Amino acid sequence: MKVSSAMAPVQPPVQLPVQLPVQLWFQLLLLLLVSRAASAPPPRHLPPCQVVQMDVICRDLSLRGAPLNLPPDVQRLDLSRNQVQNLTQESLGFHTSFHHLDLHANKILFIQPGLFRDMSELRVLDLSKNHLNVFALSKLHIGRLTAVESLDLSSNGLYTGMSDYFLSDSPSLANLSLNSNSITKIAHNTFSGSLFLKKISLHNNVILEIEDGAFDILHHLTELDLSKNSITCIDDFNLYNLKVLNLNRNSIEIFQSTQSQNVSQLRSLDLSQNKMLYFPHISENNMLEFLNISRNQLQTVNVSGSQGQQSNLTFNHLRYLDMSHNQLSSIPEHQFFKCMTSLEVLNVSHNCIRSFSITHEGLLRTVRVINLSYNSLQSLAFGAGALRSLRRLYLHGNALTALDPQLFQRLSSLRYLHLEQNSVRVCGSEEPQCGPGPVLSEQEAPPGCVCFSRAHKLHSLYLSDNNLLTLPEKAFVDSPLKVLDLSLNPGLDMHKDSLSGLEHSLVHLLLSENNISSLTADLSSLRSLRHVDLSTNQLRALPEWSGQSSIESLNLQNNSLVSLDRRSLLALERSLKTLYMGSNPLSCCHSLAALHMVQHSGVVVPDIEAVTCVHQEHPEPVNIEKVTQDMCHGAGVPNYAVVIVTLLVLLILLGLLLKCVHLRRKRHSRSFTA
Ligand SMILES: *[C@@H]1O[C@H](CO)[C@@H](O)[C@H](O)[C@H]1NC(C)=O
Ligand SMILES: *[C@@H]1O[C@H](CO)[C@@H](O)[C@H](O)[C@H]1NC(C)=O
Ligand SMILES: *[C@@H]1O[C@H](CO)[C@@H](O)[C@H](O)[C@H]1NC(C)=O
Ligand SMILES: *[C@@H]1O[C@H](CO)[C@@H](O)[C@H](O)[C@H]1NC(C)=O
Ligand SMILES: *[C@@H]1O[C@H](CO)[C@@H](O)[C@H](O)[C@H]1NC(C)=O
Ligand SMILES: *[C@@H]1O[C@H](CO)[C@@H](O)[C@H](O)[C@H]1NC(C)=O
Ligand SMILES: *[C@@H]1O[C@H](CO)[C@@H](O)[C@H](O)[C@H]1NC(C)=O
Ligand SMILES: *[C@@H]1O[C@H](CO)[C@@H](O)[C@H](O)[C@H]1NC(C)=O
Ligand SMILES: *[C@@H]1O[C@H](CO)[C@@H](O)[C@H](O)[C@H]1NC(C)=O
Ligand SMILES: *[C@@H]1O[C@H](CO)[C@@H](O)[C@H](O)[C@H]1NC(C)=O
Repeated sequence: MKVSSAMAPVQPPVQLPVQLPVQLWFQLLLLLLVSRAASAPPPRHLPPCQVVQMDVICRDLSLRGAPLNLPPDVQRLDLSRNQVQNLTQESLGFHTSFHHLDLHANKILFIQPGLFRDMSELRVLDLSKNHLNVFALSKLHIGRLTAVESLDLSSNGLYTGMSDYFLSDSPSLANLSLNSNSITKIAHNTFSGSLFLKKISLHNNVILEIEDGAFDILHHLTELDLSKNSITCIDDFNLYNLKVLNLNRNSIEIFQSTQSQNVSQLRSLDLSQNKMLYFPHISENNMLEFLNISRNQLQTVNVSGSQGQQSNLTFNHLRYLDMSHNQLSSIPEHQFFKCMTSLEVLNVSHNCIRSFSITHEGLLRTVRVINLSYNSLQSLAFGAGALRSLRRLYLHGNALTALDPQLFQRLSSLRYLHLEQNSVRVCGSEEPQCGPGPVLSEQEAPPGCVCFSRAHKLHSLYLSDNNLLTLPEKAFVDSPLKVLDLSLNPGLDMHKDSLSGLEHSLVHLLLSENNISSLTADLSSLRSLRHVDLSTNQLRALPEWSGQSSIESLNLQNNSLVSLDRRSLLALERSLKTLYMGSNPLSCCHSLAALHMVQHSGVVVPDIEAVTCVHQEHPEPVNIEKVTQDMCHGAGVPNYAVVIVTLLVLLILLGLLLKCVHLRRKRHSRSFTA
C-alpha cells in the first residue's frame, strides 16, 4: 500500500450556512476552490512510502526528514538510505510513539540532545552508517535513551571515547553494536552508563587495549564480539558470565583465564586467525562447548604458562574443537584427550602430524567426526573399543601406506572414510590379515595392504589418487558400500570379481582417470548401481551390461569410443536418464543407429555440445546433432557403384573370355576340317 493515497490529507467537512446571499455563496465557493487548488497537490504530499499497519517504510527516497503526515501512532519508521542530516524533533514530525527507528545510511551529523528521552516505547534504534563522529566532536550527549534495548552505532567513524556521548545514560540497553569504527581502547568506564548490556559487538575496530574492569561491571553480559581487532594478549580472563566470546582475527599470542573457583559460563570461544603458540588456558570449572583455534601458530598442545598445568586440563563439556591450520606435529593422546569426555567433532587438518593414535580403551568415545586431512600422517593406530561413535573419518592428503590391515574394521560405527591422496593398498577379503579368524600378530601379517571388507557400517569409501595398481577379488565383501571412488588411479587393474559382494548396496561408482581401456570388472551384477563415472579413460567399447542394469547416469566423456554398441545401449535404455559422452572420436555413420536410439528414448545428454563425430567428407568433427541419415547414405552410394562396376567389368570379362574360347574352338575345328 502506498502512503500517498492512504494518508492524503483529509479536508475538514465544510458546513455551508443555509441562508446567504448569492454573492457570498460565490465568494465562499471561490475561497474553497482556491484552497483546494492550493492543496492539490497538497504541499505536505507524502513520497511513496509503504505503510503496513503501524509501520511506515520510506527507504531510499532522498528524504531530509520524516514525511510530515505520518499516522499519529506510527510504531516503526524505516528512513534508511535517505539524506537526513539533522535529527531533531521536527525532522521526526514531533512523534514520540516510535518503537523502532531505522536511520541506517543517512548523513546524520547532529542529534538534538534529549530527542529520545520522551520516546518511552523506543526499543530499537539503528543509527549505523552516519557521521556521528562529527556530532561527538561537538561534545554534546544525546541524552537519555529511556527505553532503547538495541542500539546500532556501527560505521560512524567513532574513535576512542566517542561512544560516551551516546551511551552515558542508557539504562535499558541490552544489545549494542559498535562494529566498523576506529576505537583503539575500551576504557574502564565506557559502559558505566549502560549496565544492563547483554551483547556487545566491537567487530572491525583497532582495539589494542581493554582497561581493567571495562567489561567486569556488566553482570548481564553474555555475548562479546571482539573479532577483527588488534588485541595481542589476554592474560586475566575473568568474565564468568560470558557465554560467547569471539576473538577471531586479532593478534593474540596468549589466552589465559585467572585462577578461580568460580564456574565460567563460557560456551563458545573463537580464537581462530590469531598468533597463539600454546593451547589457551581456561579455568578448570568451565562449560566450554565450542573452541576454535584454527589458523594459529600452535606447535604443541601444551597450555600457555608453566608446564605443570598440563595435567589439570579439563574440558568435560567440549563438543567442537577446531585446531586446523596450525603447525602441530603430534598430539599426546592420553594427556590431551582424556579430559574431553564429550568431544564430538575434532578438526586437526592442515597441520604436520606424522603419527596419530587413539589406543586407550574408551578414549574419545563420543567423537563422531575426525578431520585429519592434509597432514603428514604415516602412522595411524586405533585401539579396540576406542572411538566407538566415530562415523566420519577424513584422512585425505596424507602419506599413509603401511597400516594395520584391520584398522578400519575396528571402527564399529564408521560410515564415511576419506583416503584420497594417500598410497594405501587394498587387501582381498580372503587374505589372512582380513580375518574373520583370529587377529594375526604383526610378525605374522606384516602391514602392507588394508582391509575394507567386513567394515559393517562403512557406506562411503574414497580411494582416489592412491596409486592403486590392483583391486583384488571380493575386496569389499560384507561392507555395505553405497559410494566407491576409485578414480585417479591410472593403470588400476581390477579383478573381475573385485566388486562382488556389493551387488545389493553399491549406488555410485567412480572410475574416472584410470587409463582403463577395457573394463574387466563385471558391473552387470550390481543391481543397485545408479551412477557410473568412466570419464577420461581409454575405453574403446561400452562395457557389457545384462538386461538388469538400473544405471541412471553414465559418464563416458573423454574416452576412445568410435561406435556405441547397440546391444549394450539396449540393456541401458530402460533405466538410463543422463548420458555424458563428449570428447570421443565417434564415427558419424557408425554411431547413427545408437544415437537415434538415444535420441528417441528421452535420455538427456547434458554435454551434447561437445559430442562430435568424424565424417570423411568433413575436415572438422561434426556436432552429433547435425548428422543426418543422408550424410551416411551419400557415403554409401560410391560403395555400391564400385561393387556394381566391378561386377559389370567381371561380367564383360567373362563374356569376352567365353567368346574368345568359342572363337578359338571354331578356328580349331576349321583348321581341323581344313
Ligand atoms: C542542522 O542544525 C544545525 C544546528 O542546529 C544548523 O546549524 C544547521 O544549519 C542545520 N543543518 C541543516 C541542513 O538543517
Ligand atoms: C542486536 O543488534 C544487531 C544489530 O543491530 C542485530 O543484528 C541483532 O539481531 C540484535 N540482537 C538482538 C538479540 O537483539
Ligand atoms: C567469583 O565471582 C564473584 C561474583 O560472581 C566475584 O565477586 C569473585 O571475586 C569471583 N572470584 C574470583 C576468585 O574472581
Ligand atoms: C573456525 O574458524 C575458521 C576461521 O575463522 C572457520 O573457517 C571455521 O569454520 C571455524 N570452525 C568451526 C568448527 O566453526
Ligand atoms: C610440552 O610439555 C611437556 C611436558 O608436559 C614437555 O616435555 C614438552 O617439552 C613441552 N613442549 C613444548 C614445545 O613446550
Ligand atoms: C593442578 O592439580 C594439582 C593437583 O592435581 C594441584 O596441586 C595444582 O595446584 C593444580 N594446578 C593448577 C595450576 O591449578
Ligand atoms: C574443520 O572441520 C569441521 C568439521 O568437519 C568443520 O565444521 C570446520 O569448518 C573445519 N574448519 C575449517 C577451518 O574449515
Ligand atoms: C576438514 O578441515 C578443513 C580445514 O582445514 C576443511 O577445509 C574441510 O572442509 C574439513 N572437512 C570436512 C569434511 O569438514
Ligand atoms: C595408459 O595406457 C597405455 C596403454 O593402454 C599406456 O601406454 C600408457 O602409458 C598409460 N598411461 C598411464 C598414465 O598410465
Ligand atoms: C581427456 O583425457 C586425456 C587423457 O586421456 C587428458 O589428458 C585430458 O586432460 C582429458 N580432458 C579432459 C577435458 O578431461
